[in-house]
Amino acid sequence: MGGTKQRKLNFNGFKLFFKLVLVNSLSVLSISCLSMSAVNIAVRAFRKLEPEDLQILQAIEQQMKNYEHAPKDAIHKQAELPLSEIEYRLPILIKKGLLRGWRGKYTGYSLTTAGYDTLAIDTLVKANIIEAFGKPLGVGKESDVYDALTPNEKRVALKFHRLGRTSFKKTKLKRNYTVNYSYTPDWHHRSRIAAKKEYTALKLLYPKGVAVPEPIKQTRHVLVMDMIEGAELYHYPELPDAQAVYNETLVNVRRAYQDAHIIHGDLSPFNIILQPNQHILIIDWPQNVPTTHPNAKELLERDVRNVLTFFQRKHGLKNRLKDAVTYVTENTKN
Ligand SMILES: Nc1ncnc2c1ncn2[C@@H]1O[C@H](COP(=O)(O)OP(=O)(O)OP(=O)(O)O)[C@@H](O)[C@H]1O
Ligand SMILES: [Mg+2]
Repeated sequence: MGGTKQRKLNFNGFKLFFKLVLVNSLSVLSISCLSMSAVNIAVRAFRKLEPEDLQILQAIEQQMKNYEHAPKDAIHKQAELPLSEIEYRLPILIKKGLLRGWRGKYTGYSLTTAGYDTLAIDTLVKANIIEAFGKPLGVGKESDVYDALTPNEKRVALKFHRLGRTSFKKTKLKRNYTVNYSYTPDWHHRSRIAAKKEYTALKLLYPKGVAVPEPIKQTRHVLVMDMIEGAELYHYPELPDAQAVYNETLVNVRRAYQDAHIIHGDLSPFNIILQPNQHILIIDWPQNVPTTHPNAKELLERDVRNVLTFFQRKHGLKNRLKDAVTYVTENTKN
């Protein structure tokens, strides 16, 4: 069963990956080979992994709660596989970029970012959430977002949270990106918490009618949500009706505040998407705070100020911060 599903992902993922490389230019092909992202390493490796490989990765994930570098014996016990099998597979998994070996007082192993990505992808495939992988949709400060397909060929976005990314170099080439980075040791724990926090917020906001992408699933450090079209607000030098977009943003900030009782906490024109139908969606919620938070007032004011200043500077709107904040917080329903 698992094997069949795995092969299906392999085929579609492979087709989609190559189709997209061909659509883009040759230089893109060489860049993606030179510096593959963790997700690309994971997707490539995943296609060829056998159930025993996944058992070993899962065992190391478990053991990394006890060790920074899991020793072979602990992996052996956790995975319930013969030691010879483990000794055979560990170097292969290192070569594939999913594990890191360490030599100190003993020899130990830990998962790389691509190793964690692989485990999350495996969970999503087995849960029938995704079947194929596409291009990067965006590289944020603290995430990599990818396009993917469900078994029903619906497009979804996968946000891989990357908290603790320490050195970050981004080369933007048209719509393609390469990223070099390293991580602080607790990055996975922090990324998982961020993904969960964002998912919980979306689950709260979406049914209340706040304009956010529909949440689908969260596993480990990965959030799956509806794929949205459009671009971040700062991309638009002109808007046919800037006041309408501003008003709609505030309506949604108010709805989040009054109906879901949360504040975005990092609102800016980078996290507001203007869709082709001219309606907005607010993305990127891991830093949300409840309206009861001790700094709620300051955080809300900062969010509203970021929006207001942008519309003032770029689109010449003249709205007052005090009025905007009052509109969001005043408790009268119309
Ligand atoms: N559901 C989605 N559908 C399509 N594209 C998306 C989706 N969510 C995010 N993106 C793209 O990925 C980018 C990064 O996403 P997001 O802002 O959530 O992550 P981030 O890493 O927290 O960003 P930041 O740089 O603001 O910290 C977005 O600007 C957008 O281009
Ligand atoms: Mg963002």
